[in-house]
Parts: sequence; C-alpha cells; structure tokens
Amino acid sequence: MTPTRRSFLKAAASLGVGAATAGLASPLVGSAPAGRSASPSSRHVAPPPGYDPWIEVNSDHLRTNAREVARATAGRPIMAVVKNNGYGLGLEEVGPTLDAAPGVVGLAVVKVEEALRLRAAGVRKPVLLMSRATLDEARELVRRNIRLAPFSDGDGERLERLGRELQRPIPVHLYLDTGMSRLGMPHHRALPWLQGMARRPEIRVEGSFMGFTEDTEYDREQLRRFLDLAREAREQGIALGRLHCASSRHVTFMPESHLEMVRPGLMLFGAQVAGGREAGAVELIPALRLQARVLRVERLRPGDSVSYGRNYVAQEEVCVATIPVGHSDGYPREAVDGCRILIGDRSYPVIGAVSASHCVVEVGPEPLVEQGQVATLLGPDHPDIHPNEVSDITGRSIYDILMHLSPGLPKHGWTASRS
Ligand SMILES: Cc1ncc(COP(=O)(O)O)c(C=O)c1O
Repeated sequence: MTPTRRSFLKAAASLGVGAATAGLASPLVGSAPAGRSASPSSRHVAPPPGYDPWIEVNSDHLRTNAREVARATAGRPIMAVVKNNGYGLGLEEVGPTLDAAPGVVGLAVVKVEEALRLRAAGVRKPVLLMSRATLDEARELVRRNIRLAPFSDGDGERLERLGRELQRPIPVHLYLDTGMSRLGMPHHRALPWLQGMARRPEIRVEGSFMGFTEDTEYDREQLRRFLDLAREAREQGIALGRLHCASSRHVTFMPESHLEMVRPGLMLFGAQVAGGREAGAVELIPALRLQARVLRVERLRPGDSVSYGRNYVAQEEVCVATIPVGHSDGYPREAVDGCRILIGDRSYPVIGAVSASHCVVEVGPEPLVEQGQVATLLGPDHPDIHPNEVSDITGRSIYDILMHLSPGLPKHGWTASRS
C-alpha cells in the first residue's frame, strides 16, 4: 500500500522535515525567486545557489533509521553496511554519522578503498571489509584497525604470519557460505577451518557471519545450516565471536535471524525492502534528497514536442519546466513512464524522455513554477518522490535507485557532528 500524502507528511513533520522543499537561495543566473519558503520546522541548510544537481543527506534521518533498526531487533548491535559509496549517499557523509549513532557498533564495506576512506573520514568504530585483500592491503588495513573477513583455505596461516610480523592479533569476522556460493568458507567443510582460526593466538575472532540468498524458503535452510555449524563449533570450544546474518530483508521479516548482531544497509538510508511498505513493520524515512533548480519554464503551443523521440506532443497550450538531472546522474530513464517531481508543494509528471542530463515536467496551463526554484526528484517530502515509489514505477530495484546515483553529485546539508 502506498502511504497517503497526509500520513507521509505527518511522519515527515514529526521528524522535523519541511513539507515544502523549495528552499530558495538566489540562483547564479536568471530570475531569483524571492525568499525561502521551507517550512519553519525544516532544519536543512540553504541549498546551493547554482543549477547543477546535488544530493542532500540528512543525518537526523540516518540516526532515526538506525534507532528503528534497534527497535525492530530488540536492541541488537548494528553493523551498518555502507558499501558502494554509502548506497549512493556518499561514504564521507554517511560514515561519520552512522559511526556516531548509538546502537551502531561498526561499519561494513566490500572494497578496500572504501574501508580506508571511512578511516580517512574520521570513522573510529570497527570497520569490516567483507571481501578479500592482498597481503600488502591486509597489512595496511590491519594498521588502520580494519577487520578482515577470511574465507579461504590457507587464510589461517597467512593471518598467523601477518600477526607475527605486525606483532598484534588480527581481528577478524569469519565469512561462512551457507548456500549463496559467492563468498565464504562452505559450511559443509568449515569446521576444521574454524578450528584452525580459533586456535591461533595471532587471530582474534570477533564475529562469524553469512549472507542470505533472499529466497524466503531457502533463507530458513541457510539459517539452520549456520546455527548447526555454530552449535557444533561452540560445543568444541571454538570461539566464533558475534554471529550475524540479518540484512534489511531479515531485520524486517525474519526475527529469528537477528542473532547476536544485525547487518543492514538499505533500511538505514530510509528505503524499504520489497514488501516492506505494505507490511509496515518498520518505519523508515529517506535520508537523502536528489535536487536541482528549474532551468527553464516555457509555454508550449499545440503540436510542440518534448525531448528525444518526440514521445510527448502538446495537445493544447501547456507549460513545461526543465530540470537539469538525467540518467547520467542516476535518475532512471524509465521515470518518464509515471514518475513525478516535486516543485514547491506540488508534484508534476515527467514527460518526453529522461536524457543524459535533463528531464522535463508538465506543469499545466499556467506557469506555476519559476526558473531557479528547487525541484526534488527523490526524497522524504512527498509519496510521489519516495525512492521506493520511483523504484515501483520504473521497475528498477530500490538498490539501483540509490546506488546508481552518480558519485560525482555534490553532497550538501549533512551534519556529521558526534553526538
Ligand atoms: C554481505 C552483505 N551483508 C549485508 C548487506 C546489507 O544488505 P541490505 O542493504 O539489503 O540491508 C549486504 C548488501 O548487499 C551484503 O552484501
């Protein structure tokens, strides 16, 4: 069920989000709309003055979503997954905020470069690399207190040597494969491998984890395999640290998988997993806005067409507005089939085509919007621009909607102060 506009705005208001997003500063060129019109409860800083698009990241919403994860999991510690540039919101923006969020005990990524970037951004809590590193990379990662996730034969010996060289125990989370067949030591031959890890004083096992296939029936089987292996190992005195496997889907729908820590990504950024909105099990608020200023407002004559392919032809006089955001910024091409863009407190349909750097909306018979006004393509302010709504309309996965946002988009409006 799609949230109603009223329930949506109520939720947004309770979180201090303005319903109107037309926070206007003077544009560099063109007619400057007068004054700001964001609601008094709005806490976001002034948008940038230029016409280039940007992403606004809201730290309050990140913290609110982290609190909701804690609530939904009876206070389980959270390993916050911030891979792929913080799911598109920007690693440097979301990393320090989640680092400071109560309940978050660590952050996880899948690229060496991202693990190092988190440390460079000032993240102090444990960072887990859920992938493999070369020896040189591992040396650097350990020096920066980044946890490794061994999963291969021979990793015990390698880590033992590295621990001796660096004269410190290497903290690890052991990666187990219970059916994903992607990464991890296969569960059916993991016991002796786990023994080898646990008996080496150079290795400090802080956790053991697996990933689900997200096939509901098979997930249950995977969890059974994981728990069977953990029980057997612990009966033999093998230390496994904290067991964790629950990503957003399992935080939302599979309480028995919450175990000793949870490992969500998507939901921290305020998007729901498939079926999550309908179930209403967790209340999340998008932590980003994708925004730009209206570049042009023009009245079309009957017969005038819009953009490549002339997919839209005006039947009568109509005003259209051009927004400088396109598919190269990550806004999906498919948005032309039903998505809407919020300008002021009204949303308008995307028409014609989403080209690389532009899209066009139909405003109606009157030019209700102004050049320089802020347009919001994704955000928490209206049901029409909720990332899950854009995902549903375009048929693109919610992960694509967030993670395909161009990393080059500047980030604004975030606060990363430690609380
Ligand atoms: C190993 C692992 N754990 C956890 C997550 C978090 O998943 P989600 O974003 O669905 O919460 C991911 C992301 O794909 C992952 O690869």
